[in-house]
Parts: sequence; structure tokens; C-alpha cells
Amino acid sequence: MYDFAADPALPKPELYRELLSAADALTSGEPDGIANMANLAALMWQLVPELNWAGFYRLVDGELVLGPFCGKPACIRIPLGQGVCGTAAAERATQLVADVHAFPGHIACDAASRSELVVPVLREGEAIAVIDLDSPLPGRFDAEDQAGIEALAALVAPRI
Ligand code: SME
Repeated sequence: MYDFAADPALPKPELYRELLSAADALTSGEPDGIANMANLAALMWQLVPELNWAGFYRLVDGELVLGPFCGKPACIRIPLGQGVCGTAAAERATQLVADVHAFPGHIACDAASRSELVVPVLREGEAIAVIDLDSPLPGRFDAEDQAGIEALAALVAPRI
């Protein structure tokens, strides 16, 4: 059994240190990328507060395809360059969106989402997936969340 408890009082840098250390322990030595993404989605869901969606889209044959996640069922395929996820993958750059309604082309999978953080997972400079976090709170994500999830993406890039 793995029991990772969220502590909402934890400062963000410590929260992300815990997330990274748990992610490392969970995925180390496991070659199955789907299993690793499934556990990582569950881990983000448990440890990162105020989320309504947390998971992965994978780059498959030139488009993003839904991967393991926690939250409501979501759109399955996203063309590169479209929505927040497709933009992060196409530009190979994190998208930190304080107000999803102000992001041109935002794809609403869950009407409750108000802010979003999408981090590309890069292997040898190429995007292989994105990590997507949605929150029902406007402006939920900041530079500390970005740094934490970017560190997670770097850790897991060879393992998914
Ligand atoms: N909002 C995303 C779509 C994925 S869902 O949030 C899970 C986007 O605009 O790409």
C-alpha cells in the first residue's frame, strides 16, 4: 500500500520536494510507462491541493492522446497547437494560464476548470507528453507550481 498524505499547510517548495521524492520512489525501476503515468496522476491528485483534473496527454502519431488521469472524463485527442495542451506540446514550453476563459482556443473538458498548468515532458528535446493540471480556482498556479511540475516532468521523462 502507498499512502501519501497531502498537507495543505505545507509551503509549495516542500510539497513539490515530497511529490518528487514520492514520484521517484513509485516509478524507479518500473519500465511500464502506462503504470508509471497512472501512479503519477494519482500522486498529483493526492498531494497537490485544489485540483479538478490531473494527468497526462501523450504525443502519438503527431497528436496528443489522452493518457492516465484523475478527474472527469476528458477529450481524447488534441491536435498539436490547439488548446492549452496542444500549445504546450507544439511550443515545448510550459503554459501557465491564470484564467482559462482568456486563453484563445482553450478546450473545456470540465466546465469547472478556471485555471490550468500544462508542462511538456521532453525527451532529447522533443515533446513526448504533457502533464496537465486543472483547478476550479482562478489563478491557482504560480511560478512555484510551474517549477515543481517541470522538475517532475524532467524526472519522469525517461520513465513514461
Ligand atoms: N483544457 C485543455 C484540455 C484538456 S482538459 O483540461 C483535461 C486544453 O485546453 O488543452
